[in-house]
Amino acid sequence: MESSEAIRPEKMGPLVMKETWNTPGSVVSWERSENVYICRGECAGVVLIFLSDDMFRMKVFHGRVPDLTTSQAVMNESCIPHLFPVDETEEQLIFTTSAIRLIIEKSSFLLRVENTSGKVIMQQNLTSWNPRGASHAEYDMQPDSHFYGLGEKSSFLDKRGERYTNWNTDVFAPHLPEIEALYESIPLLIHMHGDLSYGLFLDNTGRSDFDMRSHGVAFTIGCSTGEYDIYFINGPEMKDVVRRYTSLTGRIALPPKWAIGYHQSRYSYMNQQEVLQLARTFREKNIPCDVIYLDIHYMDEYRVFTFDPVNFPDPQKMISELGELGVRIVPIVDPGVKKDPKYEVYKQGVLEKHFCRRLEGDIFFGEVWPGISAFPDFSDSRTAEWWGDLHKYYTDLGIQGIWNDMNEPAVFNETKTMDLDVMHFNNGRPVTHEEYHNLYGMMMSKATYEGLAEHMGGERPFVLTRAGYAGIQRYAAVWTGDNRSFWEHMAMAMPMVLNMGLSGLAFSGPDIGGFAHHTSAQLLVRWTQMGVFFPYCRNHSSIGTLRQEPWSFGEEVEGILREFIGLRYRWMPHLYNLFHEAETSGLPVIRPLILEYPRDPHVTNLCDQFLLGDNVLIAPVYRPDTDHRSVYLPEGCWIDYWDGEIHEGGRHILAAAPLHIMPMYVKAGSFTAEGPLKQYALEDTEETVIFHLYGAEAAKGFSAAFKLYEDDGHSFGYRKGQYTELAVQATGTEGGLVLQWVYGVHDYKPRREMLRFALCYPFFTVAAVDGLEEISLEQLNEGVEGWAYNGKKGAIILQAADVPGGGELRIQADDEDGE
Ligand code: GLC
Repeated sequence: MESSEAIRPEKMGPLVMKETWNTPGSVVSWERSENVYICRGECAGVVLIFLSDDMFRMKVFHGRVPDLTTSQAVMNESCIPHLFPVDETEEQLIFTTSAIRLIIEKSSFLLRVENTSGKVIMQQNLTSWNPRGASHAEYDMQPDSHFYGLGEKSSFLDKRGERYTNWNTDVFAPHLPEIEALYESIPLLIHMHGDLSYGLFLDNTGRSDFDMRSHGVAFTIGCSTGEYDIYFINGPEMKDVVRRYTSLTGRIALPPKWAIGYHQSRYSYMNQQEVLQLARTFREKNIPCDVIYLDIHYMDEYRVFTFDPVNFPDPQKMISELGELGVRIVPIVDPGVKKDPKYEVYKQGVLEKHFCRRLEGDIFFGEVWPGISAFPDFSDSRTAEWWGDLHKYYTDLGIQGIWNDMNEPAVFNETKTMDLDVMHFNNGRPVTHEEYHNLYGMMMSKATYEGLAEHMGGERPFVLTRAGYAGIQRYAAVWTGDNRSFWEHMAMAMPMVLNMGLSGLAFSGPDIGGFAHHTSAQLLVRWTQMGVFFPYCRNHSSIGTLRQEPWSFGEEVEGILREFIGLRYRWMPHLYNLFHEAETSGLPVIRPLILEYPRDPHVTNLCDQFLLGDNVLIAPVYRPDTDHRSVYLPEGCWIDYWDGEIHEGGRHILAAAPLHIMPMYVKAGSFTAEGPLKQYALEDTEETVIFHLYGAEAAKGFSAAFKLYEDDGHSFGYRKGQYTELAVQATGTEGGLVLQWVYGVHDYKPRREMLRFALCYPFFTVAAVDGLEEISLEQLNEGVEGWAYNGKKGAIILQAADVPGGGELRIQADDEDGE
């Protein structure tokens, strides 16, 4: 006798079902509830919230009342809605702000955004969803469309012709152009066409996809769970999009200076002696270094919040000895907590219900480094606080930085992550892991950052993370995971980190030298040359690979690396200034040329060179056995950093690049700020600043300006006004140049008596400086006011007292040069 099981549907062969996609139908009615506009269609509604004249949120909803909660990416303060007039005609609803017009076609729910001159910026054609809860929308694409953003993705800078998935994934290998998902998910797409740019930010923490490949004249954005919730972010320039996107999701917190120094890591430095010896070697060899990382072997059988009692018997002693050398440690902390009833963190986690569970109550266990482990549910503020507090273990030892890894979360199973039906408590609004996945890593880093800040007595914490979601920049720097010691991966790091910068992640970088596989002398040199200009600068390599500390390949290589790492420290005032700019404006520290030269057709996909800020062009060599490379110089006049050669821009040049040189150019008529070479960023030596002005002209019409931000580099005092802002202005006159400087804010007193200005490769010969004597370089270095010739960089160096009232210097050109 058979039971009904005999006719189970799956025994009847595969069920072929045509996928149906529904659309909202036409607009039936609309209403305004306070500042929220609700448009009801035949099958679904669309809610619109204007956050400013240039930014609105559009969410599809089913049922009567839309749910207006956002993910943690969106900051509350950016969510103050604005009210704008609505015009209704037979066919359209028209919302008008001072910058845009949003037009909804009533019959189709087509959404169009125009600028004030009627040019179409964005058109969203079809918004649809299927019965399984997936949604997508289709947008117009132009023949001259280019796409940027999307955070950490492989392939080139311009994402036209690509398709990507956002699903935080532990990809040890391979990081190839066809890999659609890596560790981070930043669902922000910047679309540039003609002279218009805008951004679309899909606030969805589950799986989403962006397809700029498959639909010819359109691109699509979709998500597999949750309602379609997207923000339109107006340009017209890409810089406006970046500024506005980061006003919505937040900007980096100014890191402590030591966190932007050079960092050394390896999986793993195995014991206390090795770590101390490493630090001593850096100091003996005069190679600057701020941080040594402790990878998983520092722990007692990979239990987080422990030290291995045999290999690291006295962490306190190690840390204080390192402290004397000016070296800090940053230990790794993964989310997996070892299942071990004798382990306090696990015991507490279980007893106090901190671990992720299934709806039925059983804890989710997965295998990671420590073996079977449980995973804290960071979506619950109670658990986040518990986790944050656990970091007192580290801060009590004097540790101020933590490295969050494996927080996608990575699990050693087939799906590589937590089961999708695991629940996240989410402060009383439980969601499945399927819906929450991409947020997990960010919430871990948030808990870590806040826990450290709580226990560090006003010092700035540093958190490094592998996984993240939009907004992660508020809590952590991001490194790009397990790359390999391949030249191709060095090259790919450029577009990847540049797009991360356009997506709010101003503080990011790859493992310098490559993590897996074996580096080589040349690769390490070239990668370090590039890496010292990346925002985050860490050399890291995997267990079982060739060593890649800076001295691993003999003296010649060591010498070049010392120079370049030293360059990062000399450029520290400039770099720090750019970090400050990133904190205040959201603009990235390193930038693709398209951000600064959006009308230059040569740079739409240029990503083997980049800009540091807006005026220094870095052109790394990223192929073996190469001593020349082509460099594109955009409009203007560019000065070779190494030999002062002057190049007219708007063309390609062939740059000589023997192994000890990485081509670099400074835009004529602009400033950089350098400081003394320190062995670690907060080394207590003088904070001399030398303002380098490149290509000054003794002619009317010449003008260059720079603003230098300074503070103590480690505390939160700057948020209470303890900082300095020094504005420097150079103005060409008939037959000379006037240098003026003034402190806008002077509530932090840098340790120095003098200010220096270097005129690098000026376009005139200095005859005299009013009120300043010509002196020797020795006198200059002894702190005497005056001016001197410096053989290097064809520079004239001027030194004047650094007084709160600022100052002025009038430089006279030789008659023959002046106009
Ligand atoms: C992961 C990390 C890597 C780390 C290793 C061991 O692969 O991405 O950086 O060294 O785990 O902790």
